[in-house]
Amino acid sequence: MNTIICGLQWGDEGKGKIVDYLTETADVVARGQGGNNAGHTVIANDTKYILHLIPSGILWEGKSCIIGNGVVMDPVGLCKEISNLEEAGIPVDENKLLISDRAHVVLPYHRELDAAREAALGKNKIGTTKRGIGPTYADKANRIGLRLADMLDEATARELIEIRLNEANSTLEKHDLPTFTVDQVWQEVSPAIERLRPHITNVIPALHSAWKAGKTILFEGAQGSFLDVDFGTYPFVTSSNTTSGGACTGSGLPPTAIERVVGVCKAYTTRVGSGPFITENDDISAYFHARGMEFGATTGRPRRCGWLDMVLIRYACMVNGVTDLAVTILDGLDERESIKVCVAYDIDGERHDFPPANRAAWDRAQPVYEEFPGWQSDTTSARSWDELPDNARAYLTRLGKLAGAPVSYIGNGPEREQTIVV
Ligand code: GDP
Ligand code: IMO
Ligand code: MG
Repeated sequence: MNTIICGLQWGDEGKGKIVDYLTETADVVARGQGGNNAGHTVIANDTKYILHLIPSGILWEGKSCIIGNGVVMDPVGLCKEISNLEEAGIPVDENKLLISDRAHVVLPYHRELDAAREAALGKNKIGTTKRGIGPTYADKANRIGLRLADMLDEATARELIEIRLNEANSTLEKHDLPTFTVDQVWQEVSPAIERLRPHITNVIPALHSAWKAGKTILFEGAQGSFLDVDFGTYPFVTSSNTTSGGACTGSGLPPTAIERVVGVCKAYTTRVGSGPFITENDDISAYFHARGMEFGATTGRPRRCGWLDMVLIRYACMVNGVTDLAVTILDGLDERESIKVCVAYDIDGERHDFPPANRAAWDRAQPVYEEFPGWQSDTTSARSWDELPDNARAYLTRLGKLAGAPVSYIGNGPEREQTIVV
């Protein structure tokens, strides 16, 4: 079944692990949005991999991976990732990885422009990953970006970079940040473009022939629904559509090809970067950090942690069209005596079942909690629904009811085998 896998919170829900698990029965794994702001952790055969741009399906033999037009591609970052995989004994050749010639390219000045924008925002900064994601998507929408196809011809690339630098350099100068010459940019990225050249192509024929041949295509979402530029906690979001629609516009596989949407959420909530977080809880943050958990896979920043927020999940299930929920890191709650779930927001004495659009309303929203008894036992060795403690099953059942979608997968540890199919 062609499936989109997307995050229902603020990213880092454990999408990489779920994609890896589902890849066993898939033929093609594709990315349609985001860039190397993503960090997807997969533990396979006792080795930990963190993937940023390459779909997690690369870890399986005989599967093809596609980076679609909607992804913003840092060629140098991608080459580093390929080298790391090859050093670990995972070959990445052009039969295994195709990259859309329409994907926009993250260039060195985009990273500096990202830093410039954050500095200008001061205390209102987004807390970006500083990978140049926002400026690259902005150039795309402004129609001044470079696509991989442009990079394949040196004269075209140099001409377009020069036009863009005229404006970018004056912004960078204003912020006392490094400026660039065309030669500098070209020398930094052209070896990576040469390495990637055999992979760069029009991916549509490959994707559509896989679809028509009845092969199974998985879409690996990056980020989470509340980092979506339309549906997220704007302006504290990323610059792409992280919700399921982004998989279609970002790959060229139409909505009619999609048969299933798996929404991934943690059994609690985390967020890295600035912005509203109604159920944030210092005690829970300290609890996970003391266990060495919940540090960013891309930037290493400690993630902010809190209780599960069903106002978010309910809305995300609607927007993404979630058919199946994957609840991850259930084991993270194993030791808790009692567990809270936010079921609504109280804003000025009024109950809200859906997240507000208004920035001031986010500041005033208070969580309305339901409280559940914990199970206080180790769930990490359970391999079926029946082996889970009663209180854990009651928690998951209520969660599915509040979400309006069934819990189909449960993560009870970071390893592939620690996945329960309901
Ligand atoms: P992604 O960005 O959504 O792919 O998630 P990340 O990889 O950034 O963060 C998820 C973290 O949780 C990683 O360290 C995973 O290894 C880990 N993880 C995923 N699922 C589980 C689970 O069910 N239990 C535990 N304990 N860890 C998990
Ligand atoms: P995965 O795919 C968690 C956050 C950043 C910041 C905001 C904007 O691993 O779930 P950006 O660099 O995209 O302009 O930053 O989005 N962010 C993520 N948070 N997981 C991610 O990806 C993220 N990608 C971006 O922290 O708040
Ligand atoms: Mg991550």
